[in-house]
Amino acid sequence: MLITRRQLLVGTAAAGGVVLSTGAYAGIVEPGFRLVVTEYRLTPPRWPNDFPLNIAVIADPHASEPYMSPARIERIVETTNALKPDLVVLLGDFEAAHRFVTKMVPSETWAPLWAQCKAPLGVHSILGNHDWWFHLKRIRASIEKAGIPIMENDGVKLTHRGRPFWLLGLGDQIAYIVGRGRYRGVDDLPKTLAKITGDAPAILLAHEPDIFVKVPERISLTLAGHTHGGQVRLLGYSPVVPSRYGNRFAYGHIVENGRHMIVSGGLGCSIAPVRLGVPPEIVMVRLGNQLA
Ligand SMILES: [Fe+2]
Repeated sequence: MLITRRQLLVGTAAAGGVVLSTGAYAGIVEPGFRLVVTEYRLTPPRWPNDFPLNIAVIADPHASEPYMSPARIERIVETTNALKPDLVVLLGDFEAAHRFVTKMVPSETWAPLWAQCKAPLGVHSILGNHDWWFHLKRIRASIEKAGIPIMENDGVKLTHRGRPFWLLGLGDQIAYIVGRGRYRGVDDLPKTLAKITGDAPAILLAHEPDIFVKVPERISLTLAGHTHGGQVRLLGYSPVVPSRYGNRFAYGHIVENGRHMIVSGGLGCSIAPVRLGVPPEIVMVRLGNQLA
């Protein structure tokens, strides 16, 4: 069948329209306006079934104008609080430094906003690679001034419904850039695990998911961010993932040899303000039998 010039032009215009509208969606709508709550319900090994715990996970907000303004952070905090979590965890990468940022949102502004997250077991944080690479001292000081503890190869024993559990936080795995594509971490998994005493269940917070290959069965659940789900994720595949393991740890609930990890797609953007197929998300983890 011969295609007329008119059919060709109409077809080209339609294809161009799809490209343009997809571009507008991926460059403006998804990164700048969408927010979803992604819920996971699970009872991993070593977590008692009759011990329900709800954790809100905030990852990679990358505060900056125009995409992650103070007003947007306030809305995310409101949405988080409406979920009534028992515990809120902040997984790092608090600021953006890519070249599409029109104005920085400093830590003195965003830290008190995240501190407005409300949960009976409090708000706990770890730092990410961007926090190490840019403005580390200021970011650390602001988070601590806002009353949010930062865990670095450390742990805290929390009590919920009269029962203890451990919340551990790992130091960042790529804190120092030592060459092209080469990094040195400040993570110390043995030291972090040594904080555990007794047999209470344990949860590990790690900014990058790559540590998961070394996490022992003693940890019921690892929570990570960093990947942004690749920022572009279609049909369960992310073409670009900042992980040594590619798509293996790009996004979602990963189970390997009976060990569980949830990787959040995060809230913000790095490198470029583009998201497609992985909208900004608050992750809500519901452990144990919720009716117990
Ligand atoms: Fe990161």
